[in-house]
Formats: sequence, structure tokens, C-alpha cells
Amino acid sequence: MSQLGSVVSSPAALVDDLPTCPPAIHSYALAEYDFVSAVSAIFGDAELDRLGNERRYERFSRESDQSTDFHGLFYRSFDAIRPLDHRFVAAVAAGVLGEPFCFQRVPTFRIHLPSNVAVGEFHTDGDYSHPVGELNFWVPLTRAWETNTIWVETSLGKGDCAPIPRMAPGQYLTFDAVRWRHGNVPNETGSTRMSFDFRCIPMSRYSEGDGRSVNTRQRFVIGDYFETFPSHEGTA
Ligand SMILES: [Fe+2]
Repeated sequence: MSQLGSVVSSPAALVDDLPTCPPAIHSYALAEYDFVSAVSAIFGDAELDRLGNERRYERFSRESDQSTDFHGLFYRSFDAIRPLDHRFVAAVAAGVLGEPFCFQRVPTFRIHLPSNVAVGEFHTDGDYSHPVGELNFWVPLTRAWETNTIWVETSLGKGDCAPIPRMAPGQYLTFDAVRWRHGNVPNETGSTRMSFDFRCIPMSRYSEGDGRSVNTRQRFVIGDYFETFPSHEGTA
């Protein structure tokens, strides 16, 4: 049964659903966690949905979809928004997970340029050795709809990916990306989609394996790909 766009009112329900957590859209206080302004500042206070509209890249593949100048600038600048990211994870992600967890040290940046894709292929994160137990948080920084948003299969294992219902800054999506197939299609909206995503693992589901990130080659363990908050920040 498709649950796209359903709003989760009970955080505990998400944890109970793991590891087959379906896509669910949530809201957060954009004024309190103003990622749009913070990321726009990185790009010279640009309108994020206009970025890259005048440029044309070759269609990205799995190997090249993290390779643009936009990606480089975001990652080089991430220290400037790390405090905001930590506040968001410590409050918002913690509220969803409802138990101690570890989280992705540096979120993954996405830019979905017109007539191009943001990720090179449909996949499950399990295809890339991500461990079962992760919950993916997908956070759009622009409007995201139809061909410029993420597509996810309508039920686990069905493979029939469809666009997530329209989203905007102030919302985020959670789902079990390790098991649910997802990807994107060429962006025909004329509007750039920018987003970031990160993964959390409730500590009750955490174990150290041998898997490594396909892009950064980091191990999926605390101290490399993942980190935890010091206990004084209230989530450990
Ligand atoms: Fe993925």
C-alpha cells in the first residue's frame, strides 16, 4: 500500500516500522532552521531554484553525479552550516527517532539541474553497501515536484518509482532508502531543485560492518561516515 505523503504524527511508529519505513513527509520550522538562507549564502545569495539554469552539463552518471562546482563549493563551505545542521539533527531528527542514534557526519548535497538528473541511476542504498537500520532524511531547499523531485517505489519491492508529492522548504521526507528503490528522472520543470540528505541509525540497530561509501570511501561506522553527539548535547 502506498503511503506517499502521509504525515507521521507518532514518532514511535517510525522506529517500530524499521527497517521497512515507508516514505513520509514532515514539517519543521523554517524560521528556526533556515537552511535556505544559509545555503544561499554559500552560493552568493543566489535564488537556489535558478542556479545552474544557464549551464549545461553532460547527463550525470553514478560516477559523476557528485562532481559539479556546486558540490565542491557546498562541501568546502559545510563547516559554516554545521552548527545549523547539528541543531536540526539534534532536535528534529531526534524527535523522529525517539532514541539515541548516530548520524551522517556530512550530509549529501544534491542539485537537480534542468534537463539533467541529480543522481545517476535508480537504486537502493543497499546496492551501495549501506547498512540496514538507516533512516534517510531528505531535505529540499527549493520547491520539488514531478520531474525535479525524488522518485520512490510505491511499495517495498514493487520497483514502480513515482514522484514524491510536491514539497517545499520547511518540509522533509523520511524513508528507508536502504530497501526502498529510488532515483530521479531528467528535470523538465525548468526549475533547479537543490536538496541535501543524511542518514541516521538508531543505536539499537547499529552494528559495525565492512561497508564503505561509494563516493567518499568512508566506512559506515561512528567516527568515519557517522558521528554521535556528545552527551551534553542531549541525544546520546
Ligand atoms: Fe540513494
